[in-house]
Amino acid sequence: MSQTTIHKIGIIMNGVTGRMGANQHLMRSIFAIMQQGGLAVSPTERIMPEPLLVGRNALKLEQLSKRANGLPFTTDFDSNTTDLRVPNVKKAIAAGKHIYCEKPTAGAVAEAMELYELAKKAGVKHGVVQDKLWLPGLLKLKTLIDTNFFGRIFCVKGEFGYWVFEGHPVSAQRPSWNYRKQDGGGIILDMLCHWRYVLDNLFGNVEAVSCLGTTCIPQRWDENDKPYACTADDAAYATFQLAGGVIAHFNSSWCTRVRRDDLLTIQVDGTLGSAVAGLRNCWVQPYGATPRPVWNPDIEQPINFFDGWQKVPEQETYDNAFKLEWELFLKHVVKGTDFRWDLREAAKGVQLAEKGIESWHKRAWVDVPELPR
Ligand SMILES: NC(=O)c1ccc[n+]([C@@H]2O[C@H](COP(=O)([O-])OP(=O)(O)OC[C@H]3O[C@@H](n4cnc5c(N)ncnc54)[C@H](O)[C@@H]3O)[C@@H](O)[C@H]2O)c1
Repeated sequence: MSQTTIHKIGIIMNGVTGRMGANQHLMRSIFAIMQQGGLAVSPTERIMPEPLLVGRNALKLEQLSKRANGLPFTTDFDSNTTDLRVPNVKKAIAAGKHIYCEKPTAGAVAEAMELYELAKKAGVKHGVVQDKLWLPGLLKLKTLIDTNFFGRIFCVKGEFGYWVFEGHPVSAQRPSWNYRKQDGGGIILDMLCHWRYVLDNLFGNVEAVSCLGTTCIPQRWDENDKPYACTADDAAYATFQLAGGVIAHFNSSWCTRVRRDDLLTIQVDGTLGSAVAGLRNCWVQPYGATPRPVWNPDIEQPINFFDGWQKVPEQETYDNAFKLEWELFLKHVVKGTDFRWDLREAAKGVQLAEKGIESWHKRAWVDVPELPR
């Protein structure tokens, strides 16, 4: 009988006590892979992660370690708010470690490209979270594109956001640094990184951007119930021109109340049909089922527009989006398989955020040139 080879792989999980670190990266990705007996990469080989939890707060780490069957932890070093990423990733590259990190990789494209160049020079493998690509709703959209459901696509409209409480009297559901520019906050830097890889991968490379940012809520209350001034943008309205002629428009806001199917919806319009994707579900309306509305405000609307859409069935089983990308990265490190979502791809996201901010300040369209390889 053939023996199973276990490839053990140590992972220093820096920033693991944070929202993303604890929930998505540890519990729903790495710990979930461990619980399923590792990641099968061939009939006789499995990859088994051996994480080390790293943070500043020993108590938080101890609690998290308990939730994950007593994983080892240390308070040696920590980071992982956006503004601390560059120095820490540099340290890890200098130590010869492979890198897998959150987005945005930096606050400016020059720094993001420097990380890419350093990793390339050091010969370490590198990957960055581009989780939205593995959301069930977006995977369904991808299948529709690949099977030519839309005909010629001409328009993509993204609506992202929800109400983030100010912190007082109702507690906030996002960290306070998100609302302070000086701490790496701001919705443009946060979300345009995501829109870049979603657009580039599904609809065509982003070639130009027009963006308007704003701060809707000028004061919030932090984790210690202290008021602070919001110095970062908390809503942004951005239009993108894509290679191939598609026009995309994304509204991103932490100051809006949801009356739509999900926290993110992406509507795609094509000559033969339209679709609306949420995080998990996707609804379609083909040409042959398209209603024929007539403008007449003097009567009640006779069409219930929601009735004219069909929910895409579950044709596959879908795992957690972060876990799926982690699995691809682990395979890349251990088996040398392809992995496209690297520090250069991440730099493209930072570039779009930077160009978006430039467009806002200049009140003008800004081109998005190709980054060096
Ligand atoms: N891929 C996604 O969809 C997604 C979603 C949200 C956030 N993010 C990214 O993940 C990162 C973390 O976001 P989060 O929402 O989990 O934030 P968070 O505030 O919950 O976690 C941040 C972590 O950094 C640590 N930290 C904070 N200040 C520090 C300091 N001064 N020195 C050292 N460590 C410090 C905290 O202890 C915590 O472990 C951000 O870069 C963010 O852009 C990605």
